Amino acid sequence: PTIATIHVPFDLGAARRGASQGPASILQAGLQHHLEDMGLTIESLTEVGFGGVALAPLDQQIEAENLNYLAEVLEINTRLAEVVDLAVKKGSFPLILGGDHSIAIGTLAGLAAHYRNLGVIWIDAHSDLNTAATSPSGNIHGMSLAVSLGIGHPSLTEINGVKPKVKPENIVLIGARSLDEGEKKLIRSLGIKCYTMYDIDRKGMANVMQEAIDYLKDRTDGVHVSYDVDSLDPIEAPGTGTTVRGGLQFREAHLAVEMLHESGLVTSAEFVEVNPLLDEENKTSQLAVSLISSLLGEQIL
Ligand code: ARG
Ligand code: MN
Ligand code: MN
Ligand code: MN
Repeated sequence: PTIATIHVPFDLGAARRGASQGPASILQAGLQHHLEDMGLTIESLTEVGFGGVALAPLDQQIEAENLNYLAEVLEINTRLAEVVDLAVKKGSFPLILGGDHSIAIGTLAGLAAHYRNLGVIWIDAHSDLNTAATSPSGNIHGMSLAVSLGIGHPSLTEINGVKPKVKPENIVLIGARSLDEGEKKLIRSLGIKCYTMYDIDRKGMANVMQEAIDYLKDRTDGVHVSYDVDSLDPIEAPGTGTTVRGGLQFREAHLAVEMLHESGLVTSAEFVEVNPLLDEENKTSQLAVSLISSLLGEQIL
């Protein structure tokens, strides 16, 4: 199918500024020509931003405890959900470039209406399963998966109506190594499948991905890949705001998306948390280009 590239230059869900420059930087690193070289058709690029339109005046903004920039996160994700929804309606493959990981709220809200059982592969050092009550930071990029499960501030969980956007049994976490206490509780109580770095060390990425694919293939009618580049080891991906040591190696990260491509299950994807301001010689943007290309079918031979 044709690829609908959706840029979301937004970083107010994160503690540090700069992920808003992720989409431009990934494009600059040569995404377009890589995809074209692979024979893929890229639909016109859409940018989801505030477009110069001011937000509601301060006194009309929603105030909520421990939810930083809630009004802005709500606004951007409401817009993103519409754009993603439209892309799926047109039959395109939505490829969303973030932006911080709070944009998964809008992506999943836009996808949700089109699937009865949307699968989500969440590749991340974190699980982003906090709520305002459990978050150590108040940053909404650490809450986006919880929101998509219907757990969180109603203004966010109700974007695009359908609620929840994804069921706990249709989620697979890959690469986790920094989980807050409330997140661990939620993973256990909801029975969310989680392959931590320990599991990847123990079983190897090939086995982990095969299990994840086998697990999702019968229960889902579409699979969204939500790829946070901080899943990689900071040696490979220094250009991101919340690095955690002991992450995926370059080949493990690629093998995961190569196997996902091969599975034929993937119906949409997003790549988030690339922060060029923190990067070393554009390493992380280039990495994103090669991961995206591999996910969309680029082969070594
Ligand atoms: N768990 C931490 C928090 O809630 C870090 C979250 C980082 N999330 C991310 N998408 N990079 O603040
Ligand atoms: Mn090239
Ligand atoms: Mn994340
Ligand atoms: Mn993360």
